[in-house]
Amino acid sequence: MPTPSSQPFCASSIIGTGSYMPEKVLTNDDLSKIVDTSDEWITTRTGIKERRMAAADQATSDLAAEAARRAMAAAGVSPEEIQLIIVATVTPDMFFPSTACFVQKKIGANNAVCFDVAAACSGFLYALQVARHFINTGNRTTALVIGAEKLTSLVNWKDRNTCVLFGDGAGAVVIRRADESTDAPGRVLSTVMGSDGNLADLLKVPGGASFCPITPENVESRPNTIHMEGRETFKHAVTRMLEASQQALEIAGLKTEDVALVIPHQANARIIGAIAERLGLPPERVFMNLDKYGNTSAATIPVALDEANKAGRLKKGDVILLVAFGGGFTWASSVVRW
Ligand code: ACO
Repeated sequence: MPTPSSQPFCASSIIGTGSYMPEKVLTNDDLSKIVDTSDEWITTRTGIKERRMAAADQATSDLAAEAARRAMAAAGVSPEEIQLIIVATVTPDMFFPSTACFVQKKIGANNAVCFDVAAACSGFLYALQVARHFINTGNRTTALVIGAEKLTSLVNWKDRNTCVLFGDGAGAVVIRRADESTDAPGRVLSTVMGSDGNLADLLKVPGGASFCPITPENVESRPNTIHMEGRETFKHAVTRMLEASQQALEIAGLKTEDVALVIPHQANARIIGAIAERLGLPPERVFMNLDKYGNTSAATIPVALDEANKAGRLKKGDVILLVAFGGGFTWASSVVRW
């Protein structure tokens, strides 16, 4: 069983959101010119209509830095006030330095300690939990938590099973220590995390690292791209996201009826629909933007949170449920009172 955490010494609040999506749009019709697929197949099986693609000279840290600037502007926080930067990503700029260090340099957050978290699509909620621990224990007061991906750099454009699913983008939040006794908006009420490494082989990028370095002999078979057992991933995603949602609500002392909006990881509209149905939530209380962006892994939740915020869908006092599932397998959830 995952170990839930609900014991804040200090409270943590999200005080600003931001996101950045690259300009270039890749539609389903564009993809049907590259692989044997169709807009009809992609739309009905996934709900995705288009995705964004970063420019060749844009690295993950460029997307992350722009999302971070926007989150800091929304929070009214200067780069000097940031004491911690965590970037959740499976598409770092390089093996090292961390993408968070590149973000630090780009935004001038010279007082921050910086590192990355790798938990695939659950990465942002893992990073939020790590930042929350830093804040709750009094170690840091103000943090940037970023989910950023350039997944188009990991896609095998000859594999129709995967290349239609993924896109690029970045989202960020500023989180800050809040007085436990106050009704601070954006308060993180609960977080849940879980992992099952026994199922690691179902969703992975097997090559390009220490297990299987790229060599002249294996380069043609593209081991450094996303390999996925779609159906198995689908089944586990529904089960784990449902469990994690229920656990996070229970820890926060809340029920599904209290939830104003669920912001789920944006991988597949059918996965989201299955979870909403089992939680008993109508479509208007479930946020979806995967039609525009596809699956941007660690970026989906902070991007969706920012879009929901900017669209006025998050009202003060609303209970927001965030829930994700990804490679590892990993899963995570969080309840926030806006
Ligand atoms: N266009 C047309 N046909 C396709 C395409 C495509 N893009 N992709 C697969 N097909 C074909 C298959 O080859 C198969 O053909 P066959 O029956 O002749 O063999 C048929 O469509 C059905 O394939 P399935 O894989 O069974 O299709 P399914 O309904 O399961 O949908 C999908 C596939 C969309 C990948 C689904 O399984 C899914 O969304 N799984 C979860 C994926 C996910 O959430 N991944 C991300 C997790 S997060 C992370 O960490 C990255």
